[in-house]
Amino acid sequence: METVELDTDLSLFKYDSLEQLPPAYRDLSESERRRRITDALDTLGDDCMVLGHNYQRREIVEHADFVGDSYELSKRAANSDADHVVFCGVTFMAESADIITDGDQSVLLPSMEASCPMAGMAEALQVDSAWAELTAAAPEAGIVPVTYMNSYADLKAFCAEQGGLVCTSSNAADAFEWAFERGDTVLFLPDKYLGYNSAHELGLEDSVAEWDPWDAESTDAATAAEADVILWDGYCQVHERFTAEHVRDLRERRPDASVVVHPECRREVVEAADVVGSTSTIRDTVAEADPGETWAIGTEIHLARHLDRWHEDVEVVPLCGDACMDCNAMRQIDPNYLTWILEELVDGRERNRIEVAPRERELAEVALERMLEI
Ligand code: 13P
Ligand code: SF4
Repeated sequence: METVELDTDLSLFKYDSLEQLPPAYRDLSESERRRRITDALDTLGDDCMVLGHNYQRREIVEHADFVGDSYELSKRAANSDADHVVFCGVTFMAESADIITDGDQSVLLPSMEASCPMAGMAEALQVDSAWAELTAAAPEAGIVPVTYMNSYADLKAFCAEQGGLVCTSSNAADAFEWAFERGDTVLFLPDKYLGYNSAHELGLEDSVAEWDPWDAESTDAATAAEADVILWDGYCQVHERFTAEHVRDLRERRPDASVVVHPECRREVVEAADVVGSTSTIRDTVAEADPGETWAIGTEIHLARHLDRWHEDVEVVPLCGDACMDCNAMRQIDPNYLTWILEELVDGRERNRIEVAPRERELAEVALERMLEI
């Protein structure tokens, strides 16, 4: 297998489009694309596994061997014998899959433009400088860094080096407890809402400080280090959009409806909801609903649409109606890109391979293993 060398480095491909779709792939009709993807997958057989995140569009999800949340997808990749894992998700997810798969398996991301903006809100360089400030101002504070899965490998590696770990949307509060067994203060990155919701779950909401990396002088480092939890000022634009007003409106219009939201939502939205959890929890909640129930979904719009299609006997409505957003990063995985990546593989060429540098990979794996122990 020939590996196509790309002139990349990890911090560059977070933002840059490094591969353009060849013109011949830009205007494929849906039927032609579907036929060509199916043919390529038949030819590749067990050598190739396609993974799709719950937020991917229908035309991607229908070709996936497995559809799930970010953590489940990495585990599927790790348990697979396929030579090539085509990861239909965003860059940090493909990196995590590369970290936990064997070195001889390749992880390919159909479009290099699929980068989660929230992961980009905590650049390792910024975190290094915040860390230096905090630890210099409060050398005895015992700060333990905890990063959400939605972060790049260099930040996961940083957390491992500084005695911290990774968490997902389903085990963030457990990760906090792990950290408090080893230190006094959690520095949580990059999602302030997931961090605050987790602090709340542990009754720590009155001892929380915020760290604004774009205006570090706005927070006194020594004061911040006295808090139990320091929240990095990152957020997801898709989830920040939901408000308590949306839940109130929905309950007025549809008193029979229940509400399920992702923990990347603001605290007041989480408090107003009936169920809170990862994209898999959201899926399971609707899958387990009784026929005739109505569920309003507070997360990315594609998942709400899938649930509506998959569960005809349950009424599924987006929590904020037409204002519900799709994730621009996930949307970059255009099915035309998938066709191209697969046909290139059939011709013996690996495109858009995600490879985490060896030292980062080793450390980031430690941070992920610590999470698996909790
Ligand atoms: P999950 O891990 O719950 O799939 O969430 C990933 C994500 O990006 C949510 O915005
Ligand atoms: Fe990132 Fe938000 Fe998209 Fe999830 S929904 S991948 S957190 S931008």
